[in-house]
Amino acid sequence: MQLQTGDREWVEEVIGKITAKMDWVSEKSKHKIPYTTVNGTHDNRPDKVPESDPADGICWWTNGFWGGMMWLMYHETKNQKYKEIANISEDMLDECFRLFYGLHHDVGFMWLPTSVANYRVTKNPESRKRALHAANLLAGRFNLAGGFIRAWNDLEELDTRGWAIIDCMFNIPLLYWATEETGDPRYKQIAMRHADTAMTAFVRPDGSVNHIVEFDPFEGGVVRTHGGQGYEEGSSWTRGQAWGLYGFMMSYIHTAKEEYLHTAKRIAHYFIANIPENGIIPIDFRQPKEPAYEDSTAAAIAACGLIEIAKAVGPYEKDLYLRAALKLLKTLDALRCDWTTEADHMLTHGSAAYHNPDRHTSIIYGDYYFMEAVFKLKGNDLYLW
Ligand code: GLY
Repeated sequence: MQLQTGDREWVEEVIGKITAKMDWVSEKSKHKIPYTTVNGTHDNRPDKVPESDPADGICWWTNGFWGGMMWLMYHETKNQKYKEIANISEDMLDECFRLFYGLHHDVGFMWLPTSVANYRVTKNPESRKRALHAANLLAGRFNLAGGFIRAWNDLEELDTRGWAIIDCMFNIPLLYWATEETGDPRYKQIAMRHADTAMTAFVRPDGSVNHIVEFDPFEGGVVRTHGGQGYEEGSSWTRGQAWGLYGFMMSYIHTAKEEYLHTAKRIAHYFIANIPENGIIPIDFRQPKEPAYEDSTAAAIAACGLIEIAKAVGPYEKDLYLRAALKLLKTLDALRCDWTTEADHMLTHGSAAYHNPDRHTSIIYGDYYFMEAVFKLKGNDLYLW
C-alpha cells in the first residue's frame, strides 16, 4: 500500500506498539481464548458455562480471533511462540465438532483465522481436515428455496429457520477456500448464491444494510427485516455496515465478480459519508444523539475493508478509501487504544450491540481487526479470509 511519509512513519510506530504489547500479552494469555477483559485481564471464553445457550463457551463465535492474532504476529515477527499459541487455540476448538449442537454459521469466523491460516502457512494436514469439516457444516446450512445460509439455530422460543444475517459475508470465504483447495465447485456455488441474495435482500438503495433478514424457509422470499444488534428495524448498525463493506470485498477477491466490488463501494460510500468529524463511530448511524454510544470494533473492521477497496481500484479512486481508513485508525490509536501494561487489550469502547449492557468495553475482534488493518497498511500482510 503506497502511503505518504508521515503515514508510513505512523504505521511503523503503531506496529511497534502492537508488537510490544503482544509480546507479553501472548505469554500471559497463552492457554486462554479471550473474548474481553475483566479489570484489564483477559477472560477465557471456553470457561463460560453455556447454560441454555450451547453456542456459548467453547462454541462462541469469536473463538477464532485470538488464534488469528497469533498468526498475524507470527507472520510479522517469525517468532515461533506465536505459532505455538495459535496451535493451542486451534486444538481447543476441536471440542466444538464433538459438541456439534453449539455450532452455527460462524464456523467461518472460527476456523478461517485458525485452521485455514495454519494450513496456508504450514500446510498442516490436520488443519486442512478441520477447515474442510467446518466448510461442510457451513454448506449444510444453505436454504435452497431462499438462496441463503441460515445464521443461528433456534433461540429458545424463537424460530430462526429463515434467518440470515449480514455477518455471514465473513463466513462464506470458508466456502471459497474449500473450493480453491479441493477443486469442488459446490462450496463456491453456495457462497455466491448467498452473496447474490445478500446483495438484493440486505443492501438498501442508499448503501446502508439490514442486520437480519427473515426469509420464508419453505418458499423463499423476504418475510421481514429485524434491527438485530442495531438501534431498531430500519436503522444502521455500524458493525453490520462494516461486515457488509468488507464482506462483499472478500467475495470480490475470491470471485472477481464486479457486482461485489460495486456493492462494497456503495456500502463504503454510505459509511464514509456518515463518519463523524471526530472520527468516532457510533453503534448505529441512526441512533439518537444521546447517549453517545460508540463501537470501536466497527471502525477497525470498516478500515480493513476500505484498505482492500483502495488496493482494488485505480489510482484516482484509491485516495478516498485510504484517507477514510487512516482517519478511522488514527482516531482509534489516539483516543481508543490502551498501550499500557495495565490492560491485556488494545482497543477500548467496543460494543456488542446497542441494546446490550456490554458497551464501551474491550472485545477481541476489535484488537484483531485493528492489527489486521495496520499490517495491511504496511503491506505484505497475511490474508486470513
Ligand atoms: N457476528 C456478531 C457480531 O458482530 O456481533
